[in-house]
Amino acid sequence: MIAPTTPALRPHEDVIRALEPEVERQLRTLRPIDTAWQPTDCLPDLVQEGWPERLAEFRDAARAVPDDLLVVLVGDMVTEEALPSYSTALNQLVGDAEGTSPAPWARWLRGWTAEENRHGDVLNAWLRLSGRVDMRAIERTVHALLAGGFNSRSGTDPYNLLVYTSFQERATRVAHAGVARRAEQAGERRLARICRAIAGEEARHERFYTAMMAHVLDVDPEGGVLAFAAMLERQIAMPGRAMTDGREPGLFDRFALVAERTGVYTAADYAAIVEHLVCAWRIGDRRLSGEAARAQDHLCALGARYGRLAERAAEAAARRPPVKFSWIFDRVA
Ligand SMILES: [Fe+2]
Ligand SMILES: [Fe+2]
Repeated sequence: MIAPTTPALRPHEDVIRALEPEVERQLRTLRPIDTAWQPTDCLPDLVQEGWPERLAEFRDAARAVPDDLLVVLVGDMVTEEALPSYSTALNQLVGDAEGTSPAPWARWLRGWTAEENRHGDVLNAWLRLSGRVDMRAIERTVHALLAGGFNSRSGTDPYNLLVYTSFQERATRVAHAGVARRAEQAGERRLARICRAIAGEEARHERFYTAMMAHVLDVDPEGGVLAFAAMLERQIAMPGRAMTDGREPGLFDRFALVAERTGVYTAADYAAIVEHLVCAWRIGDRRLSGEAARAQDHLCALGARYGRLAERAAEAAARRPPVKFSWIFDRVA
């Protein structure tokens, strides 16, 4: 453990730089390329003889996925495909001016990006081969999301970015695991395997960011707690929230509604993630005073408060009528 110092005297960038030896140790969190799965491993082989039969079997199995789950899967895929925006945002934390820096944070960001890149790729390929969705409408959505840019509401504070990534990796893990569960129930075992593999990587990435933020809190409990409280105060921005298909407004809200109704990612999950992070970062045990102590009390009560709001959100979502999606040829979900 790194010894605590007088919090207000440590610029956040210095604390992040001082974590370099720990980041170096944690680089083993990333899988070596030789043992990493690739999208091709999860999809029908279109090169070997007999590929038309294998593709037909694949498409047959994909028919079992209900429309609401398909919509959630597309939203998850669009979110993954906007990876260039997240890598750009995270370079703020890493500060790799050249793009090939040998520094531990820079190597982490490149390795993380390379692993994440397969998530969008494999989901994109599954959706395309399934023949179940309007790929052009989906591609337009990805194009617009990337062109529009991404603001994590972290400002320029590296602590905020660590809070954000810890939250988001867990949120995406929950969402992919949720799709896997529902796909398994529907009998689409290949999709379930794919989403479980992605969820497993999100879990590994989550462990890294959560551990780094825990170190920040050990060194600078005041700054860390204030950053965590500030990020939750402005609500953790979902990475795909600006998505649009260029047709009907409120695409992300409609996607979030279906995610809530299918139970894949819900307001209750948001509350549970807050509660988990408060616990994982031992927020209640930190010795603090003044504004940070007030933020600490607020954070410790937040999970329960969000939990109560989540019950109302689930009831409201259940009452809403089905909504139309260009992604599934204007069918409703
Ligand atoms: Fe991902
Ligand atoms: Fe991720």
